Amino acid sequence: MDEMRFSESVTARLQEGVLVVAIDNPPVNALSAHVRSGLAAALDHAAGEPAVTGLVLSGAGRTFIGGADIREFGKPPAEPQLPALVGRIEAFGKPVVCAVNGAALGGGCEVALACHGRIAGGKASFGLPEVKLGIVPGAGGTQRLPRLIGTVAAVELIGTGRAVRADEAVALGLADALAADPVAAAIAAVREQAGRPLRRTGELAVPAADSAALAAAQAKVVAKSRGQAAPAEAGRLVAAAGQLGLERGLAEERATFVRLRDSVESAALRHVFFAERAAGKVDKLDGVSPRQVGTVGVVGAGLMGSGIAVSALVGGYRVVALEQTPEAAVDGRVRMAGLLDKAVQSRRLTGEARDACFARLETTAEAADLATADLVIEAVFDDLAVKTDLFRRLDGIVAPDAILATNTSYLDPDAIAAATAHPSRVVGLHFFSPANVMRLVEVVDCAATAPGVLASALAFVKRLGKLPIVCGVTEGFIGNRIFSAYRRQAEFMLEDGALPHEIDAALEAYGFPMGIFAVNDMAGLEIAWARRKRQAASRNPAERYVKIADRLCEAGRLGRKTGLGWYAYPDGKRTDDPAVTAMIEAARAAKGITPRPFTAQEIVDRLLEAMADEGRALLAEGIAARPGDIDLVMINGYGFPAHKGGPMFAAGQDEKRLA
Ligand code: 3HC
Repeated sequence: MDEMRFSESVTARLQEGVLVVAIDNPPVNALSAHVRSGLAAALDHAAGEPAVTGLVLSGAGRTFIGGADIREFGKPPAEPQLPALVGRIEAFGKPVVCAVNGAALGGGCEVALACHGRIAGGKASFGLPEVKLGIVPGAGGTQRLPRLIGTVAAVELIGTGRAVRADEAVALGLADALAADPVAAAIAAVREQAGRPLRRTGELAVPAADSAALAAAQAKVVAKSRGQAAPAEAGRLVAAAGQLGLERGLAEERATFVRLRDSVESAALRHVFFAERAAGKVDKLDGVSPRQVGTVGVVGAGLMGSGIAVSALVGGYRVVALEQTPEAAVDGRVRMAGLLDKAVQSRRLTGEARDACFARLETTAEAADLATADLVIEAVFDDLAVKTDLFRRLDGIVAPDAILATNTSYLDPDAIAAATAHPSRVVGLHFFSPANVMRLVEVVDCAATAPGVLASALAFVKRLGKLPIVCGVTEGFIGNRIFSAYRRQAEFMLEDGALPHEIDAALEAYGFPMGIFAVNDMAGLEIAWARRKRQAASRNPAERYVKIADRLCEAGRLGRKTGLGWYAYPDGKRTDDPAVTAMIEAARAAKGITPRPFTAQEIVDRLLEAMADEGRALLAEGIAARPGDIDLVMINGYGFPAHKGGPMFAAGQDEKRLA
């Protein structure tokens, strides 16, 4: 049967009297204007053609429909709009069944919910991830999903944005059946429903929910949301589905969607979405192919090395982990096994996958065993002599084209590279701790790094499922340089009149999981102290320097592990300590500073400005390529709230407000 074309992205064929519609809008079959108009034209055709019994909707490629086209947000709406199209599908006089071949997300899931049947292929997934973009579903998701799966389950799914795979979708009642050939099964479902009353989701009653369970589900979603508006709104709308009829429920949902879509929070999360997709793209690497990496060597099997090794194992690589002694190698192996077990317990890994990972792991105390590695990552003590000596030795062990990566946080990777025979094969891979959990990796493009080496490092990080951010060489790279500026500003405010708990409370109210002083206590104060002592000789005496942190360290207050730091921790509970206040007051008095009060707003503004200033410097120096990269580093490495978009995005908002 000939192909019919309804728009540039929507085609159909008639099969067994059923119009089988294919949506082909790469990369993810988003519901762009031409997809919506194509679907509307297909409905028109089916309505006017007696030979058509009904429709099957399916996606070309790996995705069913990836949602509304996020790039259209903020542009004037083009007809037909999605809610009307979805309503038309549900009200259609002939059966419309979707054959969900891949991800049905956001508006794609809403299209599926409005169909008269949903057949899931093995690779199907269903989700309403709108809250991750700071919005709620806007085409009926909050009203139709509870009718199918109940309000409690719907609050959990919509409030967290979690997607479910085909089997869970069927178990929940979201999908009718799982089929190896979803299109064939959907055709059969259309033929079965033809001429019978259609199963319209919107006509179903919302199943009665236990009000305590519903309230608990809503509270859980809100507790996880760190002050974001959308999850709470989603919970409210789903709960309302039981009280309002479909029409009023849809109107309330749409009004909420429009309000949130136009909010700064949603703009921030969309910025993060697109920044993540842009991350790791480097113009100069166009046409450069990454090298094949099969075996990864990890030197140092401590906490960091083990985390890196486990990430590489989970990413499918063979790993050879080197330690200094056979005993330390055994300890490392035990540590890695523990991390893999933990991943199984938290369901990030199946037992089978854990066993496969473990089978690919070799731990050794013989450096010569690294000979087969295509990429070696060092995670040894952060000392230049230790690292340069190691890289020199590796030169004689690994193949000449093997890549050498340093995980240094503060040392100069160019100096490490210079110690090797082939500096062009050296790159920085700065993982964050715990490396098996944290997504962020700063990929340091050193002065001599060859393009193929950088491309390989990026491909490696992506295969680990992590987020690579490319940066140039500078002390502390992107993250620690901004963190230092942020910390410096926080300490200035201590001298000027704020107390640690006031600064931390302001940051936590803004959305950071923990304020900066609490973070410092958790990380331990001694590493930064040692660095300050190293830098003392070269410090510009005219520069403002706050000595309070040094006084804390001198008093043995090294953070949580010593029970005392910026705070005291009686019974593990963070508590203000008058002894710290006294040290701060003494420091103010020594400089003749008269303290003044700070509002939470001023605290946040000053800290954001300090971060953005340092970010602008990083861009000007060419260390960071894009403001979005800086935002991603701070969000994924330092707890900056994603729904504020990162320091560069937030600064842009201020500039807009002031303009
Ligand atoms: N609109 C526009 N572009 C989108 C898009 C969308 N909904 N989803 C993905 N893209 C783009 C990405 O920006 C990227 O573009 P690039 O190649 O130019 O960088 C490209 O598609 C590929 O994206 P990924 O790299 O993320 O591809 P993956 O294969 O890894 O993942 C996916 C595919 C799971 C569909 C993932 O892209 C995704 O989660 N997309 C967002 C889904 C979403 O949030 N949908 C809801 C939208 S809001 C909505 O529907 C409102 C409605 O309720 C009214």
